[in-house]
Parts: sequence; structure tokens; C-alpha cells
Amino acid sequence: YVERINNLLQKREEASLGGGQKRIDSQHSKGKLTARERIHFLLDEGSFEEVGMFVTHRTSDFGLDEEKYPGDGVITGWGTVNGRLTYVYAQDFTVFGGSLSETHAEKICKIMDLALKNGAPMIGLNDSGGARIQEGVVSLGGYADIFYRNTLASGVIPQISAIMGPCAGGAVYSPALTDFIMMVENSSYMFVTGPNVVKTVTHEEVSAEELGGASTHSTKSGVTHFSCANEIECINSIKQLLSYMPQNCEDDPALWEYESTGNEIREALDSIVPQNANQPYDIRDVINNIIDEGSFFEVHQNYAENIVVGFSRIGGRSIGIIANQPAYLAGVLDIHASTKGARFVRFCDSFNIPLLVLEDVPGFLPGTDQEWNGIINHGAKLLYAFCEATVPRITVITRKAYGGAYCVMNSKHIGADMNYAWPTAEIAVMGAKGAAEIIFKKEITAADDQYQKLAEKEREYSDLFANPYRAAERGFVDEVILPNETRHKLIKAFKMLENKAVKNPRKKHGNIPL
Ligand code: COA
Repeated sequence: YVERINNLLQKREEASLGGGQKRIDSQHSKGKLTARERIHFLLDEGSFEEVGMFVTHRTSDFGLDEEKYPGDGVITGWGTVNGRLTYVYAQDFTVFGGSLSETHAEKICKIMDLALKNGAPMIGLNDSGGARIQEGVVSLGGYADIFYRNTLASGVIPQISAIMGPCAGGAVYSPALTDFIMMVENSSYMFVTGPNVVKTVTHEEVSAEELGGASTHSTKSGVTHFSCANEIECINSIKQLLSYMPQNCEDDPALWEYESTGNEIREALDSIVPQNANQPYDIRDVINNIIDEGSFFEVHQNYAENIVVGFSRIGGRSIGIIANQPAYLAGVLDIHASTKGARFVRFCDSFNIPLLVLEDVPGFLPGTDQEWNGIINHGAKLLYAFCEATVPRITVITRKAYGGAYCVMNSKHIGADMNYAWPTAEIAVMGAKGAAEIIFKKEITAADDQYQKLAEKEREYSDLFANPYRAAERGFVDEVILPNETRHKLIKAFKMLENKAVKNPRKKHGNIPL
């Protein structure tokens, strides 16, 4: 009996070493943690329960039957993050470079199935050389098994992927199908084909970092939502992200304890919007004066900066914020801003996170680049995402709400529940100058002093429309509020909307313009 016990303990000990101490040292020397260390930092102390510790591969080609490691390059199981059930897999680079074999994939699928059946988030910590080359198609089949589950789980449980090493070829598509991707700066990369293939096919010389590192994907492609300075920051970001989410789509996000001081007036809000409507300001200053202190967690911070999106809390309640950013390209909507916004809105709606829109938008970005690349199609994504969202939805127009962008940015007409405007709001088809040039063209051309005439007509148009009252008269705006009372109003309105229940028409699924 004692022998059997010792045998088990020895097997556990062996499994805990993955590919052996030498490879663990090599992993550390690259500034990377091991798969077990990552899980240790992610989950609450002592909460990890491992599944499949003794699984080994079944391949005999290329002498692989002589080389087996318990666990086969991936550690899978469940535990808790801040007390909440979470499923996790962590690829172990010390075993065949974390490459994905048939059995490695089976382990991931088993844990994904559990996560889906039990309705709890799934976290993947990726660090892998891709498909196990010695296995051929069974390994590729393993990837496809994972992609299928990622897709079925989409919108049912939150799925988060951290990239903590290589992630190339087919391997990129599992993270791409999940809700959020985090990358670690200088030690992770993602690409469909690596620098060597790129050089052969397109003759471009590019390093792995430049082609698919964290900085590239967080600024140029938008593939990653977060770029983290190191692995610990990455793991902490996963924990913070989870704190805004419910366990699954049937659940509501946790309400945080929040004690009102009784004074929700924020006078700083009165002086953020500049007198001159053409002057920029940072919408984050508005956000930070509305939300519970320090609760803003920005997503896609350095990508399509003309729109700011992120999670936050207001009165202890988890919300998703979508805000035009006047400090970047005047907050115009372009292709990237539209897709960034749309994806975030859809995530929040999938997981019952109410939406707050802060609107200051001069319209859609003109030009051949935008038109030829399909701004019509991409802009429609944001529109579609808002239209179909059934969570509580509130808009605050801080300044410009022009043209089609007025309709798109969570207007009353497309299902917003409460629409507020500040006295600085300008709700019109376009800016006063452009409008005057078109509708008073004849008068302006006929005038002796055309500049003066234009200025006069511009003022006329602006007196009529550069305010929130035309919209308020129609009920398109529910209330014109003082900037300083915005937080107070929003806390009350989100509480009023907490039992909102609407159902869209029954369908198999909609056909969002992709
Ligand atoms: N299949 C099987 N084994 C793999 C592997 C794969 N896809 N990728 C890496 N390995 C093994 C290596 O043989 C090596 O084994 P060893 O420890 O017994 O020597 C170990 O993993 C570490 O790889 P190594 O190349 O030494 O690490 P590195 O940090 O220098 O480079 C990669 C990492 C991922 C860039 C490199 O291993 C690589 O290019 N792998 C192949 C990627 C690929 O084309 N995958 C298939 C298509 S999806």
C-alpha cells in the first residue's frame, strides 16, 4: 500500500516538472513563467484542481513513443478567481514546445466542455510552437475541435486568451474566436505565417516582433485587446477583466458594494467641454468624473483611439462605456472605430452588461480610403450592434451629434432607454458652416461680401440647431442636464433600468454585416 502511495506521489512529482528542470530553466531565462507558475498566479491560493495530469500522447512516428511526458504539454483544470469558478488551460512550453497533439487538444476540449456545461469563464494561457509536427493531421483535427467549441461557447461563457509565447499558424484562431486577447510585450507573438514565409512570398523583411508582437497587434491590427508589460501584469488584467463580467449569459455581473456619500455632484464636469466647439478635450476626463473612482478598465487603449471603450462601475454596477474621443481625429467614426465599438457593444450585450454611450461625434470620416475599404459596411456593424442590444442603454450627448453618426451612437430611435444631453450639445445634420454653405449657396455667391454672408448664415443655422432643445422638444432627448449632475442622473437611471426585459424577434441568428 505504501508503495502504491509513493508511486502516485512520485508520478505527481514527475508531472510537475513538465519537460524537465533544464527546460524550465530555459523558460525562466527568457523571462517567462512556467505553465504551473502562471496558473498559480491566476487562481486563488490552493483552489486549483487538475484534470488529466497523466495523459500522454499516442504517437509512435519519428521515435516519439520513446519520449513521453505526463500531461502532454498542457495543464488543464479549474479553480477560483476572486472566489468565482473559472476553468483554465495553460500550455507548457517545456514539453515539445507546448505543441498541440491530439491528446493535448482532447484535454483542452474536455475542460471547455465542462466550462460550457457548468456556465463559468474559460481562460486559455497560450505558449506553443503550434501543431505537433510529428503528428500531422490528427493535430490539426485537434485544433478544429477546439475552434468548434470556442464558437459554440461564444456568447454563453466569457472566454479570455492570454498569449504568453509563440502563437502561430492555425493556433491563432482559437484566441481569435474568444472574447478578449491579452499579449505580453516582447515575449509573445501571433501570426498566420511567420517572417520566413512572409519573406518567401512577399519579399518583405520583418522581424517576428514587428510582424505580430504585442505592440503591433495592440496598435495596428487591433487583434489584441490588451498589451501587457509582463506576465504578472497580464494575469492581473485577466482577473480585473473577469470582475466586470457575469459567469455566463444567464447571469448578471456582480453588484459591487457601494456606499453613496450622498453627494454625487461632480463640478469638474462643468468645465471640461471647451467654449470653442472645434477645440478637443479628453473624453476620459468626463468618464473619470462620472464613474466610481478608479473603476475604468480600458479595452483596446491604443487602437482606433477616436473611440474609447472599456468596462467600469457606476454606483457599484458593472457597465460598458463607448465614448467618442474628441482628442483624437475629433472623435470621428471610421472603419476601425466602428468595428472596435461594435465588438465591444456585442460583448456587453451577450453578457448582460449595461451600456453607457458618451457622444461627441462630428460624423463619419470622409475619403476614398474609407469608402473603398467599406466604411458603409463597417459603420453598419456599430449600428447593428446597438440596434440589437437589449441591455439597459443610456446615452449622454456632451457636444456634437451630427448626421448619420447621431443615429448610430445609441440614439433613442434605435432602442436607447434614456438619452441625456448637456447644454453644450449640438444635434444637427451637419456642422453649421457646412450646412450654411449648402442651403444658402445662392445667397452667399450673390453677396458682395461672401465671407460675411457665410458667417451670418452660419450663425443663423447654428442658433437654430447647435443646441439640444430641438431634439428635446421632440423627445429624442429625454432630459437636458447640467454636466455636474451627470453621475447622479446615471446612477439613478441605471438602477431604474435594472429589471429591463425586452426580447427581439425570434430568429436563428441575425446577419450582421461582416
Ligand atoms: N512540434 C513539435 N515540437 C515542437 C514544435 C512543434 N510544432 N515546436 C517546437 N517544438 C519543440 C522543439 O523541437 C524543441 O524541442 P526540444 O526541447 O526537445 O529541443 C522545443 O519544442 C522548443 O523549441 P525551440 O525551437 O528550441 O524553441 P525556440 O524558443 O527557439 O523557438 C518556435 C520556438 C515556436 C519559434 C520554434 O520551435 C518553431 O518554429 N516551431 C515550429 C512552429 C511551426 O511551424 N509549427 C507548426 C505549424 S502550426
